[in-house]
Amino acid sequence: MCGIVGYVGKGNATERLIKGLESLEYRGYDSSGIAVHTGANLVVEKKAGRLAKLREALAERPLRGRCGIGHTRWATHGAATDDNAHPFTSEYSKFAVVHNGIITNYEAIARFLRARGVRLRSETDSEVIAHLIDLYYTGDTLSAICRAVKDLEGSFALGILSVYEENVLYGVRKDSPLIVGKGEKESFLCSDISGISEFCEEVAFLEDDTVVRVTAERTEAYDLMKKKRPLSFRKNSRAERGRETPFFGSHMLSEIREVPRSIEETLAAYPEEAVGRILRGDFDVIALLGCGSAYHAGLVFKTAMREIAGVPVRDCIASEFLTERQTEGERTLFIAVSQSGETADTLQAVRRAKKRGSKVLAICNAPSSSLSRLADETVMTHCGVERAVAATKSYSAQAAVLLRICLQYADIYGKITKEESRLYLEELSRLAEKTEEVIRAEKALEEIAKSLASADALFCLGRGADHCAAKEASLKIKEVSYLFSEAYPSGELKHGTLALMTKGVFALFFSTDPRLAEKNAASVEEVRCRGAQAVVLAAESAAKAIRAERTILLPDTIPAFSPVVSSVAAQLIAYYVAVIRGCDVDRPRNLAKSVTVE
Ligand code: F6R
Repeated sequence: MCGIVGYVGKGNATERLIKGLESLEYRGYDSSGIAVHTGANLVVEKKAGRLAKLREALAERPLRGRCGIGHTRWATHGAATDDNAHPFTSEYSKFAVVHNGIITNYEAIARFLRARGVRLRSETDSEVIAHLIDLYYTGDTLSAICRAVKDLEGSFALGILSVYEENVLYGVRKDSPLIVGKGEKESFLCSDISGISEFCEEVAFLEDDTVVRVTAERTEAYDLMKKKRPLSFRKNSRAERGRETPFFGSHMLSEIREVPRSIEETLAAYPEEAVGRILRGDFDVIALLGCGSAYHAGLVFKTAMREIAGVPVRDCIASEFLTERQTEGERTLFIAVSQSGETADTLQAVRRAKKRGSKVLAICNAPSSSLSRLADETVMTHCGVERAVAATKSYSAQAAVLLRICLQYADIYGKITKEESRLYLEELSRLAEKTEEVIRAEKALEEIAKSLASADALFCLGRGADHCAAKEASLKIKEVSYLFSEAYPSGELKHGTLALMTKGVFALFFSTDPRLAEKNAASVEEVRCRGAQAVVLAAESAAKAIRAERTILLPDTIPAFSPVVSSVAAQLIAYYVAVIRGCDVDRPRNLAKSVTVE
């Protein structure tokens, strides 16, 4: 999973490509590179490490031209080295290729190429593409690309330059997103709209198995048989570009501070009628799909549906769902949750569900994403662009809007009275304000982070909805601070994990349900008397009797809603633990924002 960008037009290709790569760096930052058609040759500059390294190299050896491709990499095959960085060129640099996705049959292709005398210089699955196009070239680049693409298995979006065509870009899409953008006498290719948005008046989203030939003025689309395909451009609206977040020195911190606004705007724009149509549809079961934090937001929905509507919901981690025997029939309503709408596992799971005839309701933050286009209906989260790798405001908005869906379901099917519905909705509308209150306690949460930062290991613990919050807290802390962290239901401790509660270990408890306060107090004692230290995030009404090293009081809310509030405290703790441990908070090692490979 990587970001690709392409440019052809009147401007300086290097500048435009670097600008695009800056916006795409969230998709991977193990290496970056560009290839430019200089008029005579295809010239490549590429570097392992952050984009700054590539910028330094280009300052020393500038590349001038009007047409080029660029890449920012998240390593899947081959370490993060200069040699494994994209773009890749064929022998004598006749073709240059950037690739996002995975070529699953690359070993067979590599053998095929080696048998014909081709020397491969990288350990990647991507390099073979450039050589294959070269091998098939007999005077027409488009034909060579179509033939090569037919040999490729896996998922991919490609940007391609041919030395034979100075001001032409080629792009290919199969199961990985690719967009063409039109500006004034210039055109772009990009993995996502954020990379080119500021230059484009119009954009077109490619369908699978499409090849595009792009010049400054014109784009032609073809299928793999070289038959022309329609390609519809539409206005690049402001909504598409997404609102930008005020910047407080770190994207993660800035985005946490945007949680209240994201919740508020998402709930204000809730498409009640459209969701009502889906919820009144013909289904027996609801199943949730998502990965990582998006999956955790789904768990909040699952808990609320059980506690408020009394209805069981199946939760599916998308990658697991893909390997399991599918037990859901067509009478299952799938709710697919994804910030980017481009997560490969989630998209594949949705395709599988749709193949069985199920309806899919998407929760997504990117209006033109692959997920939004696949789903029967989409509820947008209005978070603006989320740049930090760790999901924060998107998780909070997803959880809030899923609660809204739960309440609408409960209302439609008479699971709650009108009066209960009114009270729940009122409380939902107060959640944004309550997260604001948590953010005001930032200093106290930073103090907690100071004690956690030196822990040998951390356990995030809770019961019921608090366990959902604990799971998200644990993920956030481990991914940005690299502190070993695990989430557990508090009641499960005594069945094994208590063996790890020794000096140097910390337990972060969530206690937001007054009905469970005593049980939680007992769990805290169990941990502390074995030498571990306990920190508690407790709602005021659920803090009684809890004795811990530190307790932070959170605003009270309905227990099923509490992860929306308590996870903001956890997000701030994760942020400060990472800062104290000297981590690159916005770009944690080995990760990328959008995981577009299975
Ligand atoms: C964690 C995180 C990831 C994403 C996951 C799904 O902070 O950001 O776990 O939540 O990769 O991404 P989306 O929501 O784009 O499908």
